[in-house]
Amino acid sequence: MQITSFKQYEEDYKKSVENPEQFWGEVAQNFQWRKPWFKVLSWNFSEPNIKWFEGAKLNITENCLDRHLAANGDKPAIIWEPNNPEEESVTLTYKMLHERVCRFANILKRNGAKKGDRICIYMPMVPELAIAVLACARIGAVHSVVFGGFSAKSIADRINDAQCKLVITADGAYRGNKQIPLKEVIDDALIGCPTVEKCIVLTHIRTPVSMLKGRDVWWEDEVKHVNDICEAEEMDAEDMLFILYTSGSTGKPKGVVHTCGGYMVYAGYTFSNVFNYQPGEVYFCTADIGWITGHSYIVYGPLSQGATSVLFEGIPTYPTPSRFWDIVEKHKVNTLYTAPTAIRSLMSFGDEPLNGKNLSSIRVLGSVGEPINEEAWHWFDEKIGHGKAPIVDTWWQTETGGIMISPIAAVTPTKPSFATLPLPGIQPILVDENGKEIEGNGVMGNLCIKFPWPGMLRTTYGDHERCKQTYFSTYEDLYFTGDGCLRDEDGYYRITGRVDDVLNVSGHRIGTAEVENAINMHAGVVESAVVGYPHDVKGQGIYAFVIYPEMHGEAELSKKDILQTVTRVIGAIAKPDKILFVSGLPKTRSGKIMRRILRKIAEGETSNLGDTSTLLDPGVVEEIIEASKNL
Ligand code: WT7
Repeated sequence: MQITSFKQYEEDYKKSVENPEQFWGEVAQNFQWRKPWFKVLSWNFSEPNIKWFEGAKLNITENCLDRHLAANGDKPAIIWEPNNPEEESVTLTYKMLHERVCRFANILKRNGAKKGDRICIYMPMVPELAIAVLACARIGAVHSVVFGGFSAKSIADRINDAQCKLVITADGAYRGNKQIPLKEVIDDALIGCPTVEKCIVLTHIRTPVSMLKGRDVWWEDEVKHVNDICEAEEMDAEDMLFILYTSGSTGKPKGVVHTCGGYMVYAGYTFSNVFNYQPGEVYFCTADIGWITGHSYIVYGPLSQGATSVLFEGIPTYPTPSRFWDIVEKHKVNTLYTAPTAIRSLMSFGDEPLNGKNLSSIRVLGSVGEPINEEAWHWFDEKIGHGKAPIVDTWWQTETGGIMISPIAAVTPTKPSFATLPLPGIQPILVDENGKEIEGNGVMGNLCIKFPWPGMLRTTYGDHERCKQTYFSTYEDLYFTGDGCLRDEDGYYRITGRVDDVLNVSGHRIGTAEVENAINMHAGVVESAVVGYPHDVKGQGIYAFVIYPEMHGEAELSKKDILQTVTRVIGAIAKPDKILFVSGLPKTRSGKIMRRILRKIAEGETSNLGDTSTLLDPGVVEEIIEASKNL
């Protein structure tokens, strides 16, 4: 199933479009099924109703673990690199990982978990996080991993939306020189979560935690009561594998649902191809398992292919900005998959952190999460890849399950800042505002996908109508990505960024409405409007215009108060970079905020504001412009 030449890519692509069922049926033969499918695909985008590998039975953990045991049981599956480089790293072979997953699966059962139950995971980047994820999959429970940076309220909202029965957490996490009290955050969250019966707590930083009798149990104690034999639950290809919450332009985050069979095939196929993974190589994805990149390209994709996946607990700049390069050298990393924001941040330290570092093991580089600017692309290429490692700029989304538009390493000729071409099976189209297809090359439009692929979302948890409205109703019979896109003269795709009210801050997806709601919860705030603006390192920064007439004391302190509220309501990742106090917001006569104008002001553009004739009170704009100059 591995593509080794551009000619083969073209042939496979053609075949995947002309005969998708045959194409994916053949790809799926590379995985292990308990029972084969009777139909590869049935679908419509109007409901939507999408089924891949109908009738097939499997367990994804048999593909990620059991099937490697005979030939590769002693091969490293996970190499864990701790936050503190002075501490020992940990290598788990496939045999060891299998054993630990089975043990923890038995712990889950012992604590009442069954097939179909939802389980929330809120953990640091330690091997036990991967073990917890796989153990859920082993018993057919649905995991909902919540990134360690979210607040108690965000966690509670997610737990309640999915009606989780169990929570898996740790006492705390290390992040650089900080310690984060995870269990404390969970304790706050669980006050408002009536469905949660049990909470399993891993000891990691050994900070004091409260343990509620009857609800909270220690991971280490539980291990003593179980053995390492756990037969995998037989799952239908379309049974739910996991829920992952992500932000949109309106409302609360949605629980994107992925199912067992199609997701497995897509994560495995794209991992093997995009990174051109070779047996024995060491692969390092710097994402957190709390995001889709970690699900698909730290856990499921690599493990389904018998790869060695590095799991790093820390951050790129701790203890020094050489940390990534030290890890590459120490573990002889062959593939490094990271985010443009990390590249830009490391670039800003100059060449010094690279001095004396041996990066010669690197063969493939990857970028994900946001558009990569040319400067960062070239730096990555020259300084890290020494001009010899192909860069795969991978475009995809939580909803797509896996990489959609990307070069195939060592196969597709790359071009800085272009995600290049669709992978086999992916049929992108560009449309105008009215949904009319924009054909030909050298054009721009809204990026849609017109045919299903195995890794696509099936629904949004508990609210199928929302899934339909968000992704399948903007344009008839198309999946709408929310991204704008350029297709150049060569037919290469460049993603230009979101066209909806979704921000991408350091590769994290944040809805402007969510941030506004959080700011508006602050006592005394009357109204707010949030927009993104270009930020050198983060890609986008968050700019908040806030009406706060009864400001409490000094403006600077009041801003800090608001940041506290946002941190409480969503989490530190959603804190505005800039807050501007204003007396009014530019609105149309029908009361709609004209964000277009605010975006321009946030970008520092104060003369060409476009058409302002529909404004209710043009004076407001003048005032905001003046105030913005002093920020
Ligand atoms: C949004 C999806 C894909 C996993 C991590 C983010 C942006 C993602 C690229 C890229 C330009 C990109 C898009 C997309 N995005 N990759 N290579 N080039 N933009 O997943 O949180 O679901 O965010 O990230 O805007 O819609 P996500």
